[in-house]
Amino acid sequence: MQIEETASAEAANADEVAIDAVVVVDFGSQYSQLIARRVREAGVYCELVPHDAPWERVAPLRPKGIILSGGPSSVYDPGAPRLPEWVIASGLPVFGICYGLQLLAQAFGGEVAPARRKEYGPATIEVAAGSFPLFAGLPNRLDVWMSHGDHVEQAPPGFAVVASTANAPVAAMASDRIAGIQFHPEVAHTPQGAEIIRNFLVNICGCRPNWTPDSFIDRAVAEIRETVGDGRVLLGLSGGVDSSVAAALIHRAIADRLTPVFVDNGLLRLGEADLVRDVFARHFGMRLVSVDARRRFLDRLAGLVDPEAKRKAVGETFIRVFEEEARSHGPFDFLAQGTLYPDVIESTTADTKAAAKIKTHHNVGGLPEDMQFRLLEPLKFLFKDEVRAVGRALGLPDEIVERQPFPGPGLAVRILGEVTEPDLDLLRQADAIVRAEIEAAGPDHRPWQYFAVLLPVRSVGVMGDYRTYGRVCAVRAVASADAMTADWARLPYDVLGRISNRIVNEAPGITRVVFDISSKPPATIEWE
Ligand code: XMP
Repeated sequence: MQIEETASAEAANADEVAIDAVVVVDFGSQYSQLIARRVREAGVYCELVPHDAPWERVAPLRPKGIILSGGPSSVYDPGAPRLPEWVIASGLPVFGICYGLQLLAQAFGGEVAPARRKEYGPATIEVAAGSFPLFAGLPNRLDVWMSHGDHVEQAPPGFAVVASTANAPVAAMASDRIAGIQFHPEVAHTPQGAEIIRNFLVNICGCRPNWTPDSFIDRAVAEIRETVGDGRVLLGLSGGVDSSVAAALIHRAIADRLTPVFVDNGLLRLGEADLVRDVFARHFGMRLVSVDARRRFLDRLAGLVDPEAKRKAVGETFIRVFEEEARSHGPFDFLAQGTLYPDVIESTTADTKAAAKIKTHHNVGGLPEDMQFRLLEPLKFLFKDEVRAVGRALGLPDEIVERQPFPGPGLAVRILGEVTEPDLDLLRQADAIVRAEIEAAGPDHRPWQYFAVLLPVRSVGVMGDYRTYGRVCAVRAVASADAMTADWARLPYDVLGRISNRIVNEAPGITRVVFDISSKPPATIEWE
């Protein structure tokens, strides 16, 4: 491996990278993305790479440090993920977390062993005197979150034991530029975790916290100009946060060589098509092509009940509509999408992680192979909260950047079973009530995402003096930070009561309302 050569060749060829970066190596922990988010929150750019990524994948980032995530394996398991050779060979500062610590201990000749008892949950560490830069400015006793089976029994030669607990003799160890900790600084249950991560980035790697929305915009605009050249870009505008921010960003880069196309697919919420057109007219200084494709989507969905088949049908129909619009307004070279980093991470995890595909999000999964465009995805390294910050920095109003997420296949995945026009109308009414009542309850009770779902079952009821046999509607409301995990929102009973009462009175045919109290995992946020 020729790290020096590759790195210096990259440095010589690449444009000056204005922002400092680190790389996070993913060993399969459920918290790997959280590490990446904490690093970004500290103002330092990072990318998450699978543990089997080659140095050539990492070098263009010109990282100033490397963070090793936790993982479910034991370093002694046959086939367990190994420390990539380039980690130590790079000469960069390294910070191992949990499994990452154990890999470092093993690599430098320490001893890793099964803990006498597995440790999951809160613990208190004692930090040795003579403060190491990782713990600078922090007290000597820290509450932390542990989640491990193995631990480091003996630190390697040349490493100082910096912290310990009764159950983890080496809760933290450090040498000159290499440090490792047994606990998880990335989770909220380690209250000072963000400071520990910041200490690594700033005190050990020497990173400047210059990853800001403005620095992103400058770089993204330059990159879009370079990628697109003299070409023209077609953008599918859904009116959601991601495609709106992508539109504003690309427009800043190439002005009217961007043509945003809004497709009314008939799967939108009540009044949404008008709202999108109206907001766009007020806040974007560009012409919007608006296409009425309601009939076409409905026809394509007719008879489909399988959730994946429905998603694919919607994704494919979108592309076909775009291709036709491209022919009448084109030619176009690129199709722009608001794909985000979590989607990208999910589709590039290590083979060994064998991440099972849960749903085909149409941003990434449902595109037909014979598509006639190149893809332009300027937000694909951003998390959702970063997209919102970029949107604000681009001057977009709250009514766009604060919108709750809405899936690309729209109401098609909120009507379980076949999608029909009468059911779409019914769901739209129920959903409008759910949203109106939750919004009327004020910002303190507003969950991260909330909507109605129409179920394909009927149940018996009584209205007036008559027996009814009507539809069932589920209310879904979740608290989440990034949609990766979610908990059901504790909506006040009186809000639930008003929702239920209004739906059975105002949405004809729905006679029963249920509230979904599942978290993700094991459920997902959407029902399909
Ligand atoms: P799940 O149901 O997977 O949803 O827990 C996670 C988040 O993603 C949204 N979602 C989608 N967004 N295209 C999108 O752009 C899709 O196909 C799609 N499916 C789900 C969902 O609303 C939630 O916020």
